[in-house]
Amino acid sequence: MRETTTHTPLADALAASSRAVAFSGAGISTESGIPDFRSPGGVWTRYNPGDFTFAKYVADPDVRRRAWRMRREFWASDHQPNSAHRALADLEQAGRLHGVITQNIDGLHQAAGSRRVVELHGTSREVMCVGVAPRVGTPDGCGWRGPTRWAFEALDMGVEDPPCPACGGIVKSATVSFGQNLFPGVIEEATALVEGSDLLIAVGSSLQVYPAAGLPELAASSGIPVVIVNDEPTPLDHLARAVVRGRAGSVLPPAVHAVL
Ligand code: APR
Repeated sequence: MRETTTHTPLADALAASSRAVAFSGAGISTESGIPDFRSPGGVWTRYNPGDFTFAKYVADPDVRRRAWRMRREFWASDHQPNSAHRALADLEQAGRLHGVITQNIDGLHQAAGSRRVVELHGTSREVMCVGVAPRVGTPDGCGWRGPTRWAFEALDMGVEDPPCPACGGIVKSATVSFGQNLFPGVIEEATALVEGSDLLIAVGSSLQVYPAAGLPELAASSGIPVVIVNDEPTPLDHLARAVVRGRAGSVLPPAVHAVL
């Protein structure tokens, strides 16, 4: 039976689970000051996602310069994990959560203390070489990776589109852009986490982007209960054992601490 209520169904679902997995989206980080993508005021309500595809990034130095300015703006303010990130880390430390699968690139789950984190869309905390002329959708750089700080130091020295220091190739944040394939092995690792779980908690995602949104679908089709915690309805609400409408930072901590 599906119900939309406060946090009780989540606490009940956690009490009945011993091997939960969390699946998070940008909504878990908005209370840390990071805008999400599709809510009013979200990133894709201010920028056109079509301007930031992998193909355009590797083809056009102006797109790269604009992307570096956006990244710089994003990292200008310091973001800290919030109580929702910390609640999931507490659940993992208590042995009740086997991992977090996140679509986010902000690294806040790890900063909150989560140890098993699968970053489906990579991380904005690192940059990587994607090669001189990568094929459509597939980075094929020399293997060089560095901290994003390296790129900002180059930008500070006036290098607007810093090339790979090892091979001169194009450097991009170690994230997955539209039109770019996920990094090898990531979806397999996430799938194994879901298949080994007895509860999937989807938090702060509009559940519209694939293959990521296929993971809650996989859980539901495998008979694994799904609880969706989100500020607004999602296209997968009909698959959920329970839908909890509310802010992640208000819903997760009481439900998690009720079972710890
Ligand atoms: N608590 C609960 N829900 C929230 C909160 C909050 N504090 N803040 C926002 N939300 C909800 C919004 O209502 C929205 O439904 O979180 C959801 C965020 O959805 P999106 O902005 O679409 O973010 P996400 O689902 O993570 O997007 C998936 O799309 O652009 C790509 O790669 C990008 O990883 C991203 C992917």
